[in-house]
Amino acid sequence: MKKRQELYAGKAKSVYTTDAPDRLILEFRDDTSAFDGKRKEALERKGMVNNVFNAFIMERLEDAGIPTHFDKRLSDTESLVKKMDMIPVECVVRNIAAGGLVKRLGVEEGATLEPPTFELFLKDDERGDPMINESLAETFGWATPEQLGEMKALTFKVNRVLKQLFAEGEMLLVDYKLEFGLYDGRIILGDEFSPDGCRLWDANTREKMDKDRFRQGLGGVIEAYEEVGRRLGVVFPEGQSTP
Ligand code: CDP
Repeated sequence: MKKRQELYAGKAKSVYTTDAPDRLILEFRDDTSAFDGKRKEALERKGMVNNVFNAFIMERLEDAGIPTHFDKRLSDTESLVKKMDMIPVECVVRNIAAGGLVKRLGVEEGATLEPPTFELFLKDDERGDPMINESLAETFGWATPEQLGEMKALTFKVNRVLKQLFAEGEMLLVDYKLEFGLYDGRIILGDEFSPDGCRLWDANTREKMDKDRFRQGLGGVIEAYEEVGRRLGVVFPEGQSTP
């Protein structure tokens, strides 16, 4: 499959058209950003690590019966995916209080959330991805109630699968964000699942093993991502990632 033209360059990934009209290539770059793009840095090997890790997770989710846009990994930093019509709504599940929830509601960081919470955010960088709800999504046509119901059910199914998977690697899945799209009229999981879009803590020490290391300037960002992969049995290729 050949890359044709760049469709879109996001903060950490670029998207290319291919010879096939219903397939795209995702290129995972080394670029890392936080705080709505106000903090940016290139972290060596990150594109490769996230691409390989995402492929591993997407395959586990497919095995568990969750439909995803992922087809196959093409190289260290590229994957082939199905071209979807993206739904501009982000779904966030939280098992443990952290990040935005702590800031917004003053809940104690680390508190167990039972049942886990479910939140919706509008994908809109300019407005800092504002929190929305089902009513707003329906009124403004971002997603139908049926689509939102399906997205919520799939987001919780992902929670069951991944909480268990990370627990086997002695990690806590604190929270994560998912994005969905339509392919052949069906809701499927899009975007990526990597330590960039979730929070993972060591189950024993509660040490952060995700993008909070970058946000909080803790260092050892890629080393932590690789450790997450290693604990799950992911094998990362040797050598440098391409820019
Ligand atoms: O990022 P922040 O702490 O402000 O937001 P959050 O609502 O606490 O984020 C919940 C989870 O979703 C975290 O794992 C974030 O990394 C992830 N997230 C994301 O990947 N992309 C966003 N635009 C917002 C949140």
